[in-house]
Amino acid sequence: MYLKKTDIEIYEAIKQELERQRNCLELIASENFPSLAVLEAQGSIMGNKYAEGYPSKRYYGGCQYMDVVETIAVERAKLLFNSEHANVQPHSGTQANMAVYFAVLNPQDTIMGMHLSHGGHLSHGHPLSFSGKYYKVVPINVKKSDQLIDYKELKELARKHKPKLIVAGSSSYSRIIEWKRFREICDEINAYLLADVAHYAGLIAAGLYPSPVPYADFVTFTTHKTMRGPRGAIILCKKKYATLIDKIVFPGIQGGPMMHTIAAKAVALKEAMSEEFRLYQAMVLSNARKLAETLAKKGYRIVCGGTDCHMFLVDLTPLKITGIEAQNFLESAGITVNKNSIPYDKRPPAETSGIRIGTPAVTSRGMKEEEMVIIGELIDKVLRSKGEKKIISYVKNKIKTLLERFPLYPDLKY
Ligand SMILES: Cc1ncc(COP(=O)(O)O)c(C=O)c1O
Repeated sequence: MYLKKTDIEIYEAIKQELERQRNCLELIASENFPSLAVLEAQGSIMGNKYAEGYPSKRYYGGCQYMDVVETIAVERAKLLFNSEHANVQPHSGTQANMAVYFAVLNPQDTIMGMHLSHGGHLSHGHPLSFSGKYYKVVPINVKKSDQLIDYKELKELARKHKPKLIVAGSSSYSRIIEWKRFREICDEINAYLLADVAHYAGLIAAGLYPSPVPYADFVTFTTHKTMRGPRGAIILCKKKYATLIDKIVFPGIQGGPMMHTIAAKAVALKEAMSEEFRLYQAMVLSNARKLAETLAKKGYRIVCGGTDCHMFLVDLTPLKITGIEAQNFLESAGITVNKNSIPYDKRPPAETSGIRIGTPAVTSRGMKEEEMVIIGELIDKVLRSKGEKKIISYVKNKIKTLLERFPLYPDLKY
């Protein structure tokens, strides 16, 4: 409405991105399509206001409505996840993890977290991340045999290295993480347990994936993946850590909170309390299982042998193509996935031997198991053709027809 008149370049880029989102099959596990209500809050005038501090303890005047919004967001997060405390200010998942580290660790302390190629996130101790630069990191591995977390090795390594904090959580592990076993290991060596459920949060909210809240000292999650909210993150913790966490988020590592995003987080948290959201998450899960099963039937190896969540990894080694090739072939056919290292990958991270597939976004468009079978068969065609032009154009047409049946943001006019 306004942008078109004032800034045609940005207007055009947004318009084209909307068309891309509408016309591509989005299978990136960490992406989703939030409701228009979430987008409305996120694009609102709430972002105009500086509200450093916390409700009733602000550094600026005029914060009465900021207090209303942030208090609602905090209360909804506590209720939804049955947590004693919530901080809704972290700008991102990485900053939420940073806040927890800074709250309880000193530089050069030892931490344990899943290795990147075994499912961990950069912020769990990768050498290129602050987490790998500031702390000594002992990686947690999965077993070669079944790609499941090696709890026996984890216990031995924890006893040997005595980390001050263990991060349990993953960007690509498709099976249940046994929070209780992590807790027991942490108790034995007197370590803090941080559960990073960036990926699983929506499923946890819906009661479809085990909650770490009863076991972990700190739980962090992003709000834009399965949670289907705005970009950002939330930290949950026990009451005894509330002041520590709040002080480290602000003024420790952040300035003024993004109040438009906090308003949008509140909206997403309310949506997550509904029966509709529970049914949506159940569909995300059945869709992921159906898609993994369809690909397995076509002869693909699914890492961990299947999935208990919204995502899974496909090992492309038998097809003799790399993850980056597969990503590019699929993209040219209108299917968006990301290359992903698989455990014990022989290829470098820029190439990889696998792809990661997730169903939150296609499920938000209304797709069900029936469509997952079609998608699985089309993915197989593209990958086996190794980019053959005729096949790519055939699949592209099929994807276009499929997407037309599931319009994205039909009310959004640009
Ligand atoms: C497990 C996990 N933790 C943290 C993050 C970081 O989130 P952000 O990109 O918001 O910093 C991600 C993002 O993909 C993630 O998968």
